[in-house]
Amino acid sequence: MNAPTISLKGLDLRAEIDRLRRERNAVILGHYYQAPEIQDISDFVGDSLDLSRKAQATDADVIAFCGVRFMAETAKILSPDKIVVLPDMDAGCSLEDSCPPDQFRAFREAHPDHIALTYINSSAEVKALSDIIVTSSSAETILAQIPREQKIIFGPDKHLGGWLARKTGRDMLLWPGVCIVHEAFSETELLKLKAQHPLAPVLAHPECPAHILDHADEIGSTSAILSYALTSPSETIIVATEPHIIHQMEKAAPHKNFIGAPGADGNCNCNMCPYMALNTMEKLYLSLRDLEPRIEMDEALRVAARKPLERMLDMAAATVGKGDVGRPILAEA
Ligand code: 13P
Ligand code: SF4
Repeated sequence: MNAPTISLKGLDLRAEIDRLRRERNAVILGHYYQAPEIQDISDFVGDSLDLSRKAQATDADVIAFCGVRFMAETAKILSPDKIVVLPDMDAGCSLEDSCPPDQFRAFREAHPDHIALTYINSSAEVKALSDIIVTSSSAETILAQIPREQKIIFGPDKHLGGWLARKTGRDMLLWPGVCIVHEAFSETELLKLKAQHPLAPVLAHPECPAHILDHADEIGSTSAILSYALTSPSETIIVATEPHIIHQMEKAAPHKNFIGAPGADGNCNCNMCPYMALNTMEKLYLSLRDLEPRIEMDEALRVAARKPLERMLDMAAATVGKGDVGRPILAEA
């Protein structure tokens, strides 16, 4: 599906993508887990909250979303009049897959006195069944605004939910989903790495299991991890999240040594997100050329999913994202 049907050999993809971006009045939004060349050609690179805000605020006619499907869907929900393309429509997410809407509906119905706080890594259908969406950047700020006596269902990431529950003392009912990428880090290998670099802080994303988070000096969203890495006085830093974020770290602090936390075989390749990796420069070019594959959504579903997303954007208003590191990389003609 979505494989290039023509040979793109000999094409200067960067120049062609830049030409099409201008012709289409398109904005390219990229997540930190995308390949370096995609991050570098994106107009904006950020975490999920940053990218949602950009998708809502842009005056472009086309959004080319270099991330995964739930992110591009979020862009469409917030900007329905824009054409939203995702270079590879198969770019899903294990968290979204873990939470089928019919099962989530049944879970909600079994707990009618609970509100549903739902991670943005979920389908539009699950969002539509939820009360408030959160990202890893905004979850704590939003949780702090919900009365303590209010019972809460949190899904679909049990590790993010567990970390929030431990940190805030809130007792939440957790949906049992996991991110296959953050689940793959090995505690044994991390401890070996820490022994080799005893002064290096460990930065971890809250999608990691508790046995990894227990060894972290800083836990936060991709933008929070990036910010810590750049401001820390430490010269060597261990990064326990998808390793493509190290591209931004190395660009901003080339003198520092950033080490990706390892998986069970001691090799961090298993911690690369296979869904994010489906987007390539070739597919980005084709998506801008053909304006396909396009995110389409039933209007009733879109309207229902928009409410909890807008609640998040309102409630997270005070949360400052660290995105916007991207910019047009090619010189203005
Ligand atoms: P953030 O960039 O919001 O921290 O999310 C990480 C992630 O796993 C996205 O899929
Ligand atoms: Fe989903 Fe994990 Fe990939 Fe993020 S890194 S898109 S949570 S599978």
